[in-house]
Amino acid sequence: RAEEAGAAAAQDLAGRLDLRQRPRRNRKADWSRRLVRENTLTVDDLIWPIFLTDGTGVREGVQSMPDVQRLSVDEAVADAERAAALGIPALALFPNTDPGLRDDVGSEALNPENLVCRASAAIKKAVPGIGLVTDVALDPYTSHGHDGLMAGEMILNDETVETLARQAVLQAQAGSDVIAPSDMMDGRVGAIREALDAAGFAEVQIMAYAAKYASAFYGPFRDAVGTSKTLVGDKRTYQMDPANAREALREVALDLEEGADMVMVKPGMPYLDICAKVKDAFGVPTFAYQVSGEYAMICAAARNGWLDGERAMLESLMAFKRAGCDGVLTYFAPRVAEILSRR
Ligand code: PBG
Repeated sequence: RAEEAGAAAAQDLAGRLDLRQRPRRNRKADWSRRLVRENTLTVDDLIWPIFLTDGTGVREGVQSMPDVQRLSVDEAVADAERAAALGIPALALFPNTDPGLRDDVGSEALNPENLVCRASAAIKKAVPGIGLVTDVALDPYTSHGHDGLMAGEMILNDETVETLARQAVLQAQAGSDVIAPSDMMDGRVGAIREALDAAGFAEVQIMAYAAKYASAFYGPFRDAVGTSKTLVGDKRTYQMDPANAREALREVALDLEEGADMVMVKPGMPYLDICAKVKDAFGVPTFAYQVSGEYAMICAAARNGWLDGERAMLESLMAFKRAGCDGVLTYFAPRVAEILSRR
């Protein structure tokens, strides 16, 4: 009887299928899984977007973005110090401009003392080693919430580009390291490059929001910067149609020709095919923006106990690496950095 059982077990071990290839063998233990792992997520992959507001000592929650706050400049400096301590390479700054300072043409964008410029200078002074990415677009400054200047219902391209180039130079003067145009006007990367060079900022980089889609996933961001109630219409005449992939390659090619140092795909997770195509086609530093709506979805499901928030967060970020991204703008940055530092 014992012999019979032994023989049966031996046959089980030998297996029923005559397989030479058993991919599961490499997955049998943690050490082996680590050995064959194709991608890694590290703190070096993270850019942390933060929101700015007026005042001092202000940390004001954003309702649709759990654990995300609008920070006064002094608090932004504190978070920059925290980012540096965690090893996060760079911050991206977004202002919630006082509604009283918003107008038709986004004048506040050209105020050298605006929130972004003040925060850039203060952060650079306190934490000189951290990278600063600043957004170039007019939407946080316009009363209509659009990224460009308007004539009637039309968004004016060339007139907007002129303003954006001036905005970029002001940001560079304030200490920005990376100018990140998110407006999707045609020709803005070239104009910004020229303006930066002419102003003596040849070393300031450009991260182009090259393939930025007209997406529903920006909803919580618009709450955070205070444009969700004011936005007139939508952004479909300048941001890309979510139905298009080949067009993204054309947009990236143009931005690179015009002088972009790095390109970005946005949103992130629903557009991983675009990330992979861009990286394959151009091989340049490629970033994804895991946008506010993606962040909110993961947080909301986790809060409901519908998924394991920490695992979903880490898996979503690893997916960007697998798709070929060099880094990710993500509101999860400080949490991920903390988790990675404990490993
Ligand atoms: C605006 C801008 C947007 C985001 C970054 N820059 C919103 C928009 O285009 O309406 C979205 C970021 C996010 O959703 O996290 N130029």
